[in-house]
Amino acid sequence: MNKQAGIKHAVIPAAGLGTRFLPATKAIPKEMLPVVDKPAIQYVVEEAYLAGFTDVLLITGHNKGALVDHFAQAPELEQTLHARGDAERLTALRHLNTLPPLHTVRQESARGLGDAVLSAAEHVGDSPFAVLLGDDLIEPSDLLWQKMLDVHARYGGSVLALMEVSDDDVSKYGIAAISGTDPARVLDLVEKPSKAEAPSNYAIIGRYILSPAIFSVLRHTSAGKGGEVQLTDAIAALARDEQIGGPVHAVVVNVRRFDTGDRLSYLKTVVEFATRREDLGPDFAKWLKGYVRELND
Ligand code: G1P
Repeated sequence: MNKQAGIKHAVIPAAGLGTRFLPATKAIPKEMLPVVDKPAIQYVVEEAYLAGFTDVLLITGHNKGALVDHFAQAPELEQTLHARGDAERLTALRHLNTLPPLHTVRQESARGLGDAVLSAAEHVGDSPFAVLLGDDLIEPSDLLWQKMLDVHARYGGSVLALMEVSDDDVSKYGIAAISGTDPARVLDLVEKPSKAEAPSNYAIIGRYILSPAIFSVLRHTSAGKGGEVQLTDAIAALARDEQIGGPVHAVVVNVRRFDTGDRLSYLKTVVEFATRREDLGPDFAKWLKGYVRELND
């Protein structure tokens, strides 16, 4: 249970079709794509536990097998590594088992992020909860959760994390109309607007604290952008009428965020994570510098 705000539940939607990564994601969820030697989802699950959420619910989709297997015990594999004396890999594998057990629920069909979050309603019940989108890796040492939980402890309701993006990028995100700062008050939200429609350059990044009132709003939210039930539309309804589930605030941050959701930013993420690693980093960086010189010639 998170001490600051008493929030226990974290919900991680991992039910998308992963079409941007086909054919790699035909049989495995995109959240299983490795960032160096850990699947993206593991970073997100670890972030949730580090932030103090003790009950993590994965919303899975049509190909959930690999996700569930990844977090399950693997006694045969452990025995093999033990017999080979491979202590390093054994430690990495055992670390997975030190994470509290995950819960899973299956979203019947991929009808959008809002619909995926709605499938958490029964498990979460009537308490505020966190949402972490599996595509976004956020550097835990940037203490984003601490900031968001502080705001929630002060004001209740819902809390978003916003980052300023360029005019060219507003159409990739949910964009907020806000007033004030530290924390900002969210007045309205538009999912993936055009430059002309965008109410600001403040983009929602994939971390949320939501009032449980979001569930009843989601039940009545019709398909929006892209024909999908959008979480952004339901949060906008909360922001426009504080009677429904309390106010919606936002912290405007500049955290290190790695988007593994599209191919180019995925490649950049892998390179950056690899160069930062103590074991691989020095050799990889040396090779990379040489390779970049070759490209420049
Ligand atoms: C989702 C949300 C969007 C948010 C984004 C952050 O979009 O719908 O509001 O800004 O995550 O990564 P997606 O990237 O899943 O299309």
